[in-house]
Amino acid sequence: MKSVYVFTLGCQMNVYDSEQIIRLLHPLGYSSVDDPEKADLVILNTCSIRQKAFDKGFSFLGRIKKQKKNNFDVLIGVGGCVAQQEGEKILKRAPYVDFVFGTSAIHRLPEIVRRAENGEKISDTSEGGVIIETGSNPDLPDEITPSGFVSIMRGCNNFCTYCIVPFVRGREQSRDHTEILEEIKRRSLKGMKEITLLGQNVNSYGKKASMPDFPDLLYMVSEIDGIERIRFATSHPKDLSDKLVDCFKNIDKLCRHFHIPVQSGSDKILSDMNRKYSVEHYFQRIQALRKACPEIELSTDIIVGFPGETEKEFNETLNLLKEVQYDNVFAFAYSDRPGTKAALFENKVDDNIKKERLNNLLDIQNDITKHKNSAFMNKNVKILVERQEYGEEKNFILSGRTFGNRIVHVEEPAECFIGNKKLKGEIVDVTITKTLGHSLKGELLKN
Ligand code: 5AD
Ligand code: SF4
Repeated sequence: MKSVYVFTLGCQMNVYDSEQIIRLLHPLGYSSVDDPEKADLVILNTCSIRQKAFDKGFSFLGRIKKQKKNNFDVLIGVGGCVAQQEGEKILKRAPYVDFVFGTSAIHRLPEIVRRAENGEKISDTSEGGVIIETGSNPDLPDEITPSGFVSIMRGCNNFCTYCIVPFVRGREQSRDHTEILEEIKRRSLKGMKEITLLGQNVNSYGKKASMPDFPDLLYMVSEIDGIERIRFATSHPKDLSDKLVDCFKNIDKLCRHFHIPVQSGSDKILSDMNRKYSVEHYFQRIQALRKACPEIELSTDIIVGFPGETEKEFNETLNLLKEVQYDNVFAFAYSDRPGTKAALFENKVDDNIKKERLNNLLDIQNDITKHKNSAFMNKNVKILVERQEYGEEKNFILSGRTFGNRIVHVEEPAECFIGNKKLKGEIVDVTITKTLGHSLKGELLKN
């Protein structure tokens, strides 16, 4: 058996694609290993959302290049968004790379790898036309994990002015709902309890193709036996319908968490970003969600230092954070992406000011997150155990997520697990005994 190591950068969609890569290579005799030094084939799944992620990919390649010096036989492949964007340029910049495959070429990977094994150099970034997910092929093995991703659509039509995604992932395409349901059923039969439906903008699922819409799909997924928790990411505020809000009243399995990227608290900046909603509309959507489901946990994405952002506009973003009181925030300094509209905008914000604003914002949010976490002290929560390991002190370390989106760690002496009881994949009751900045600690609730 040959071995493949996949290094994944970027979003959950890339994590899903990496799982598909491993499944697709199985029939070629490759099994997955978690050490690049032990691999016959090393694949880098790249991300180009910000310059930092882009650079990270090349620094990983630099490390792998050394390995190739010691072992000429190791094959190196580059996939993902940078591969889609740069194609052959990667082979020029890093000549030790054997093949490049774009996001639209994943399903052609077996053929690409076979050709690379025969010594051919390949760059394949051509459009595939249809979405072919390997997920619907029952002959390929699934990794058995308690929680997994399923892609329901690919691409994006929104063209936010800062964003590279529509250029590297193409236009929005929804995947056939029967195929999605089949994939989830098959994985639930293997023990998966939680599923996260993935798309760049899940709210517009099925809209253009006389298919079920996203709320309809959620109702269908909720009917699948064995699936106990449903999550989804990501949503665009302009498309958040009342029908979707109502799902939080009607679907018991729907996790009480909504990731709703706002990007900025200034109408002027939102307009320059081409986000197509106002701060007022956004607040109104948040209120609707909280009315339908008072315990819902909210998280968001924010960009600071977008071209032209003044101190006053940045303060509007801070005010929005204070007003909404998110449970979690992902904040980024604006990064120029060549080819996007914003890259051509004038009055770019100075790097030091961006850094200052980012730190300022994170300080404020860290206090909010800490305060929100502290409300969980002594509360009982249900976590789905995603990790169970032996600790150094002959104890067990468990971790998992609440029905919202909080990460909980539990440490228990081994005696609690008479007969080496397997709790990975189980939903267990935990009492929270300590609250930290970004996670919670607890003890198993003893009956
Ligand atoms: N610069 C900084 N952040 C960006 N994001 C997307 N493009 C850029 C960029 N050019 C952020 C957005 C998005 C998240 C996935 O990444 O906040 O929601
Ligand atoms: Fe990028 Fe905007 Fe599409 Fe999200 S909605 S992927 S930010 S273009």
